[in-house]
This record gives sequence, structure tokens and C-alpha cells, in this order.
Amino acid sequence: MKKIKIKVPATVANLVCGFDILGMAIHEPYDEMELKLLDKPEIIIRHEDQFGLPENPSENVAGVVLQNIVQELNLTTGFEVTIRKHIKPGSGLGSSAASAAGAAFGANALLGNILSDEELVHFAMFGEELASGVRHADNIAPCIYGGITLVKSSSPVDIIPLRSPDLYAAAVHPQVEVKTSDARQILKKNILLKDAVEQWGNIAGLVAGILKNDISLIGRSLNDVIIEPVRSILIPKFEEIKTKSMEAGALGGGISGSGPSIFMLAEEKETAEKIAQLMKSVYNEIGIMSFVYVSKINPSGIEIVEE
Ligand code: HSE
Repeated sequence: MKKIKIKVPATVANLVCGFDILGMAIHEPYDEMELKLLDKPEIIIRHEDQFGLPENPSENVAGVVLQNIVQELNLTTGFEVTIRKHIKPGSGLGSSAASAAGAAFGANALLGNILSDEELVHFAMFGEELASGVRHADNIAPCIYGGITLVKSSSPVDIIPLRSPDLYAAAVHPQVEVKTSDARQILKKNILLKDAVEQWGNIAGLVAGILKNDISLIGRSLNDVIIEPVRSILIPKFEEIKTKSMEAGALGGGISGSGPSIFMLAEEKETAEKIAQLMKSVYNEIGIMSFVYVSKINPSGIEIVEE
């Protein structure tokens, strides 16, 4: 195979209480990537979008992933990549993870699927490290595996794919900038034991709820007493959106990744659509432009469009 086209979905990291360990893939928005195999070990990156991202491979999220693949595997081939991003960088919807995971997935397909999913996560984390300074896999894993994933450990890579419950996600992306690196820097380095106990009760409850398909348990577990109270101050109208969404029938939700996007889960599509509209109108009222997305949890992650 010489060429592949893929659709790489947005992802919601943390799933409220599972900072750096839980994440889920959604269907919208998604990036489009095309990778070609080159007969010498060089990397060419081209962006056909409006985000002005660097195309120099060592400064590009997809580029560093491919450089590491070429080096670690001692390849005599290289890759040319064309990226059409629709997941806005800095949205909290896994934009950098999409480029990184898409590069690893596409390269592996062109090489005849010689890498395991864990190895794809290992390589894709070089992209996250470039983007945020930290090798975290909570966006990358659901992008590659699909559905909801648990990062039991990122070093060594140990990913537990969970189920993909039949739920809808409503997400709003207000057009304010929150850099992941800043949103990580403001976090407290130490936490109280009583908060940790509450948090791991919620994480365990959420994982159990997903595995048992217990929707009420999922809803009761979507609480974050550690990260959200700190980060939510960076997101205008966060509390109002959360309160109104719960009143409109959301199961629960919170900050998507490091923000500024906010997501809510709902059992019915109509409820998710209603929530998306109310999220948008809250931002309209204060003159902040926003994009909203309603999507089922995406059970399969990256999709091959053409090979
Ligand atoms: N788990 C990460 C964070 C996701 O919350 O900082 C950001 O992409």
C-alpha cells in the first residue's frame, strides 16, 4: 500500500473525574489526513487548513511522531502527510492527539500493520509531548481504540478499552483560548486525602457504570472535586452551562480535556441537541462565538476512508 486517507475523530479527555486516564472518541468534529509512503526516510508535512500550524516536521505534532517511527524502526522509507484539520487547536477536543494518533495509525497501515495498538500509543505520545510538554495518552488512546478507554499506565503503555455506551455527547467550543500547558500549570501539585478518596470513588464508579451499562451510576460518577474547581475559572459561564444542561436532562459532564470546550452526556439525541442549543445561546448572550457538536460516542475511532 502506498497511500491512505483517514478520518481522525475528536476526543474528550478526562471524562470529568479521570484526569489523564479516561477518554472517549466522538464522531464530530474530525480531521482528514492523507499519508503517502516515500522511498527515502524523509518526512514532509503539508497543512491544508487555516490554523497556521508549523510544517517543519520537528515542530509539527504529526511530524515528530513520524520522525520517531522512522528512527526507532530504522526505516529506509519516509512519509508525506497532508492534514486538513477541522478540530481547532486549543479547543480541548483532542486536536493535537488527532494529528499524532492519525500519523501513527496511517504510517502503520502503510507499513503493513507491523505495530500493535500500544506501540501506536507509544509513538503518538511524542506528538502530545511536543504540544503540551507531557506524554499523556487520554486523548490518543480513544482515538486509536475507539469508544471509551482507560490509560492504566502510559509508561509502560497499558490501555484498557472499555465499552462504548449508547449515549450522546453534546459539546460546545467557545471561541476563547485556553492552552493545555497553562491549564496544567495552574493545577495544585498536592491534594487532600479526602478529595482523593472522593475522586477515586467517582472514577471507580464511572468505570463500573460503563462496564455494567448502568446509566444512573455513570451519571452519579461524573463529578470532579480536584481539577474542575481550579480550571473552570478559565471558562466563561461554565457553572451556568452545567446547571442549565443538568436541568435539561444531561446525565452529567464537565470540561472537555483541558478546556475551553464543555461536554455533557445524554441518553437521547433530542436531549443532547437541546443541550447543545442552550450551550450556544448562553455564549450568544455574552457575545462569545461558539461551535456546538452533537455526536454518539464513537466506538471505532480512526476510520480508513480510502487505501
Ligand atoms: N488530560 C489532559 C489534561 C488532556 O486535562 O490536561 C489535555 O489534552
